[in-house]
Amino acid sequence: MTVKTVGIVGSGIMGSGIAEVAAAAGFEVVLRSRSQAGADSMLGGLDKSLARQVEKGRIEEPAAAELRARVRAVTDLDELSTCDLVVESIVEDLAAKKHLFSELDRVCAAGAILATNTSTLPVVEMAMETQRPEQVCGIHFFNPAPAMSLVEIVPAITTSEATVNDAREFVEACGKTAVTVRDQAGFVVNALLFPYLNNAVKLLDSGVASRDDIDAAMKGGCNFPMGPLELLDLVGLDTSLAILQALYDEFRDPNFSPAPLLRRMVSAERLGRKSGSGFYDYRRS
Ligand SMILES: NC(=O)c1ccc[n+]([C@@H]2O[C@H](COP(=O)([O-])OP(=O)(O)OC[C@H]3O[C@@H](n4cnc5c(N)ncnc54)[C@H](O)[C@@H]3O)[C@@H](O)[C@H]2O)c1
Repeated sequence: MTVKTVGIVGSGIMGSGIAEVAAAAGFEVVLRSRSQAGADSMLGGLDKSLARQVEKGRIEEPAAAELRARVRAVTDLDELSTCDLVVESIVEDLAAKKHLFSELDRVCAAGAILATNTSTLPVVEMAMETQRPEQVCGIHFFNPAPAMSLVEIVPAITTSEATVNDAREFVEACGKTAVTVRDQAGFVVNALLFPYLNNAVKLLDSGVASRDDIDAAMKGGCNFPMGPLELLDLVGLDTSLAILQALYDEFRDPNFSPAPLLRRMVSAERLGRKSGSGFYDYRRS
């Protein structure tokens, strides 16, 4: 199958980044948000990102305008009926994703591939909500999608080889490097990354070092571009908590058991950059 039109569902951090990546690669993009406000803010974010890139000389103005013209924001799920591939990128919640997959199965053309950008959740459970479990797989981008080179392709045990090949072709057309990973919580990157991030919160909570010293230690000591607490703020603390919970549910490994402080911060709606405060305060800058 040749993918020409890509649907993206979810107008959060990842949805808008994936839309930009797909449009930059020349695909027609239909971006579905539940509300007009979400759709507008998404297009506003894309405009800002493109203006920044033009300013920095990374893209010429006419090319930016062409890219922008390839993205259409909609609120009605039925508008995804023309898509060859839909990438779901809504909240990291299995019940919400399963419901969405049954709806996507209803509205999308029989040949369309349905993909999830989940960080940890079982792809097979979403596949089994559809009448096309062989055409469902994980296509897991990283944050921020335009900047990060890796994508994990995650076939469920139901996924056909043809679907994996089409997913790989799409990912490579987006200029990304694909790795294929079995449908197991956390795949490769998050299974390795999240115990580290979780333990950083536990260190902070036990008073071993301050926030700034923990982040400085990992930047200076390991040459990481960001400290663990900065990275948690970038990912979103609610998403991080959901990722850890899914990992803990699957493996029962104490390293995945979410740090109590992380839970408290999510309860207090300190979700990181997206809410204006997390381990750091973003409202002052
Ligand atoms: N944040 C990251 O670093 C990152 C990286 C890779 C993958 N992911 C994955 O991408 C997906 C989206 O994460 P995000 O960081 O963009 O989250 P986000 O919180 O920024 O956005 C979530 C979006 O889902 C929508 N939403 C919430 N509940 C919904 C429902 N019941 N039905 C439909 N839409 C709903 C929200 O309105 C919002 O637009 C998750 O599966 C997450 O695990 C996140």
